[in-house]
Amino acid sequence: MLDSKGFDLWSDGYDKSVNLSEEENTYPFAGYKDILGKIYQTVRNSSGKTILDIGFGTGILSKKFYDDGYTIYGIDFSEKMIEKAKEKMPAATLIKHDFINGLPASFKNRKFDFIICTYAIHHLEDSQKIKFIKELLSQLSDNNAKLLIGDVAFSTMEEMKICEEKSGDEWDDEEFYPVEETLKTAFPNIKFEKISFCSGIFTVTK
Ligand SMILES: C[S@@+](CC[C@H](N)C(=O)[O-])C[C@H]1O[C@@H](n2cnc3c(N)ncnc32)[C@H](O)[C@@H]1O
Repeated sequence: MLDSKGFDLWSDGYDKSVNLSEEENTYPFAGYKDILGKIYQTVRNSSGKTILDIGFGTGILSKKFYDDGYTIYGIDFSEKMIEKAKEKMPAATLIKHDFINGLPASFKNRKFDFIICTYAIHHLEDSQKIKFIKELLSQLSDNNAKLLIGDVAFSTMEEMKICEEKSGDEWDDEEFYPVEETLKTAFPNIKFEKISFCSGIFTVTK
């Protein structure tokens, strides 16, 4: 699994490698643009204006909201990713923080209309994911606010197994992809939209 230094090294080539996997429709980024596009539309079709981006990376998605006038908060543990995102969004509140420890103290007294997390939550094991999602839900501003998670994701463990077999040596054993049937036990109202053979979007409300 990549640590913060691994992501530092990946930061320069990140946008390119994501685009390549997306264009070739291969694991892990098949469906990437659709995931970001659909999350973008969901937020734009609602009225809230304050967004927290978990693991914002180079800021591909949050920059779009930033340009539309949204107030952007974010956490990421890679200095280089933060540098790149800060260049694009100088007025955003972007904090260096490892989300294995939950949210930073300075965000705990804030509420957000949307919390978005794309291709980052798979760094947490299932029990850590559930704990973190619970914390994120408590930071949503009201009952219309949403947590939107886009990632390599599956409806069932069986579907994930099929993808693993199909991906061969490319499959990353050190990542813990979110699976609807597992998360449903902790979050009965979670919704999953499948986007490609290896990706999808979870919507969670309070
Ligand atoms: C694959 S990139 C996704 C970036 C962006 N959200 C996107 O969709 O393109 C994962 C990001 O999550 C960050 N990340 C991974 N594990 C993290 C952790 N434990 N705490 C904070 N950030 C983390 C990485 O530094 C990286 O910027």
